[in-house]
Amino acid sequence: MIDLVCGDAPRGANYFGREVMLSELRIALQTDNVLLVAPRRFGKTGAMFQLLDQPAAFSPVYMNVQHIHSPQAFIVELIAALLSNSTSRKLIYASAGAMHDAFRWLRDLPESIALGGELGKIKIELRKREELAERWDEVGSDAFSLLAKGEQQTLLMIDEFPIMIQHLLHASEPEAKRCLHWLQRARQLPDSNTRFLFAGSINLLSTLDRHRLVDTALDLRSVRVPPWDSATTKAYVRQIFASRGLELVEGVCEEVLGQVGAPIPYMVALVLRASFERSSHAGWNIDREMVAAAVEEDLLRGPPTAVFMHYRTRIAEYYPGREQAIVRRLLGLVSVADNPVKKETLFTIYRDAQDDGDDDDLLNRFSLLLERMENDVYVRRVDGGYDFYSFLLKRWWRDRFGFQEGR
Ligand SMILES: Nc1ncnc2c1ncn2[C@@H]1O[C@H](COP(=O)(O)OP(=O)(O)OP(=O)(O)O)[C@@H](O)[C@H]1O
Ligand SMILES: [Mg+2]
Repeated sequence: MIDLVCGDAPRGANYFGREVMLSELRIALQTDNVLLVAPRRFGKTGAMFQLLDQPAAFSPVYMNVQHIHSPQAFIVELIAALLSNSTSRKLIYASAGAMHDAFRWLRDLPESIALGGELGKIKIELRKREELAERWDEVGSDAFSLLAKGEQQTLLMIDEFPIMIQHLLHASEPEAKRCLHWLQRARQLPDSNTRFLFAGSINLLSTLDRHRLVDTALDLRSVRVPPWDSATTKAYVRQIFASRGLELVEGVCEEVLGQVGAPIPYMVALVLRASFERSSHAGWNIDREMVAAAVEEDLLRGPPTAVFMHYRTRIAEYYPGREQAIVRRLLGLVSVADNPVKKETLFTIYRDAQDDGDDDDLLNRFSLLLERMENDVYVRRVDGGYDFYSFLLKRWWRDRFGFQEGR
C-alpha cells in the first residue's frame, strides 16, 4: 500500500523507486561529504528522509536551513538539531562532562534540555547565550569536536543549503565567506566523525562561483537525482491504482506519461491527483480521456494552476535585476515554439537586452544563465536546442504568457 503524496516530502514506502540513486548516495557517503544535486521537486528531501529512517551505521540528524539569514542563526539551528536528537545529545553531554572548564554555553542550559527538550524550546534557550552570537564559529567547532568523541558517525543532513548561502551572501558577503570557510574546515578536521550531506534546489556551485567562492565546495562529491524513467513512472501509476483498489484501464499509464513529458515525480503526482478528483466527481473510472481532460481543464486552467504560478513568481527571487525580464522573455519564446529553440536564437534575445560587454563575455554569462535555468527545471537541452523541462509547465506558460513575451 502506498499513498499519493503531492507536495510534501514523501516518507517510507511513499517514496517510490530510487533504489539506484539511494544506493549511489549511500556508497558516496561511506567515503565523502556529498552534495545532492537536483532541480525542484525531484525528491531530494524525500531521499534525505529515507536516510533518516534507514541510516545504516550513521546517527542521522536532519535540518532545513531555508529560513536562515546569519551564521549565528545557523549555529543555533545546528546545535538545537543535535540536542534534540537523543544519540547526539547524549554524546555531546557525555563528552563535555569529561572536560571541566570548556563549553560553558552547554553547561548553562536548563537541565530539561540535557534530558531531551523540544526543538523550538532549545532554540529559544540557545538564542539567549551571548557566546553563540559572539563566537558562533568556536561554539560550532566545539559541537563537532564533541561529536567526534563518539563511536558512531553522525550524518548531518542540511537541506536547502544553497538558499541559506544566498541569504547569507545577501546580508553580508564577508560573513557568508567566513561561514563557508568555517564549514569547510569543520568537514576536513582530521578527527572529524561527522559526515555531511547538503541538498538544495538552486545551483550551489554557480551561486558560489559568482562570488568567487567555489573553492569552498570543491571537496563535496555530487550525486544527481534524475527524473524518473518511464518504467518507474508506469510502475508507480500501477501501484497507486492498486493501493486505491482501482482498475487501471488500458492506456492510462501511457496517457499520464504523454501528458507530463519528462517524468518529474511531482508532475506525475499532480496529474494523478487531478485525475482522481475528476473521477470522484464524475462517478466513473479513469480512462485516457479523463486523464487528458483532468490536465487540460482542471490542472492547467482550474485552481491548481497556483502550483505553476510559483514557478513564475520565483523568477523574481532567484534571477536578480535585469535577468528577471530576460528569463521571462526566453521562456515566453520557448513556450510558443513547437520544437526546441536553438541556443543561437536565445542568445540573440539575450544580447539585445544587454548594453555592455563584448560577445565573448556575454556568451559566457548567457551560458551560465541557461545552466541555472536548466538546474531550476525550466528548460533542458534536447535535440540541439532548448525546450521546457516539463511539458505541463510549457502548456501552462504558453497559454498565459507566450503571447506577450514570446516575441
Ligand atoms: N520518489 C518519489 N515517490 C513519490 N513521489 C515523489 C518522489 N519524489 C518526489 N515525489 C513528488 O515530488 C514532491 C516533492 O518531493 P520532495 O519534497 O522530496 O522533493 P524536493 O526535491 O525536496 O523538492 P523541493 O525542491 O521543493 O525541496 C512530492 O510531494 C511528490 O509529489
Ligand atoms: Mg526539498
